[in-house]
Amino acid sequence: MSDHLIQTIDLSKIYGSGETAVHALDAVTLTVGYGEFVAIMGPSGCGKSTLLNMLGALDQPTTGEVWVAGENVAKLKNVDDFRAQTVGFIFQLHNLLPTLTALENVEVPMQGRVGSGRERRDRAHHLLTLVGLAPRAKHLPNQLSGGQRQRIAIARALANNPKLVLADEPTGALDSQSGEEILQLLGELNRSEGTTIAVVTHDRRVAQATQRILRMQDGRIVEDHRVSDPLEEDLRALAFSKLGETILDPHDAPMQEVTPEEEAILRKLITRLRQ
Ligand SMILES: Nc1ncnc2c1ncn2[C@@H]1O[C@H](COP(=O)(O)OP(=O)(O)OP(=O)(O)O)[C@@H](O)[C@H]1O
Ligand SMILES: [Mg+2]
Repeated sequence: MSDHLIQTIDLSKIYGSGETAVHALDAVTLTVGYGEFVAIMGPSGCGKSTLLNMLGALDQPTTGEVWVAGENVAKLKNVDDFRAQTVGFIFQLHNLLPTLTALENVEVPMQGRVGSGRERRDRAHHLLTLVGLAPRAKHLPNQLSGGQRQRIAIARALANNPKLVLADEPTGALDSQSGEEILQLLGELNRSEGTTIAVVTHDRRVAQATQRILRMQDGRIVEDHRVSDPLEEDLRALAFSKLGETILDPHDAPMQEVTPEEEAILRKLITRLRQ
């Protein structure tokens, strides 16, 4: 077996054709090892969801290859099995079934895959406990908060013990406290179960809680960054901020109460951090 859980080779996706063609992914070559926790960032429309959908066999490449857990995703014999067992999806809007209880929602992906009804129920209970929601097992989605619904969606994504969890802005619709909790939960899952997780996020703090940040632009991966210690991450955030850009801009007025020598040092530091 390959050392990598995910491998894409020259992966491209073009939507439409002729003048209206959109190159959503442009020759993306990427490997992600077993047990990694990766964040995917980048401006709206840069191809993050498209990449995630390709990894989860929700969409087909135009050219190039996607391999997940040793299988060529374009040539899967059974796509339903792959979607149900190898990957677990968590979306921004959890997509829970409104007429089913929390417990039943978690059971859905196990139908026809996990032995008896009793076993499914026990596993769903175990997963609800894992996400801290066992006391809400019998509640309907509309009786739960947004953060609680998202935790149910995580439990559901884990139903069949997938090797890979794909999360598309799972904290996007939540307040920062609930978002933080969801992220901690994903981190724990990664550490305790060794689940490989790829999470799309616009939130730099979310990304910094992972191990690796992939930054995309115009359908390409333009930066592949290992997350280091918190101070360095803060400095990098500063370097990419408005202040960082202002300091770098040679046309900007000289900074007050900063000598030209000090400003030169700041410029050097920020230039290095942005590399
Ligand atoms: N089904 C589709 N048909 C045509 N174009 C599409 C389709 N899906 C996505 N696109 C285009 O492909 C590009 C990448 O879209 P994608 O959804 O991957 O972006 P994203 O990085 O996830 O953006 P966001 O942060 O807004 O979710 C965009 O220009 C989008 O308009
Ligand atoms: Mg998206």
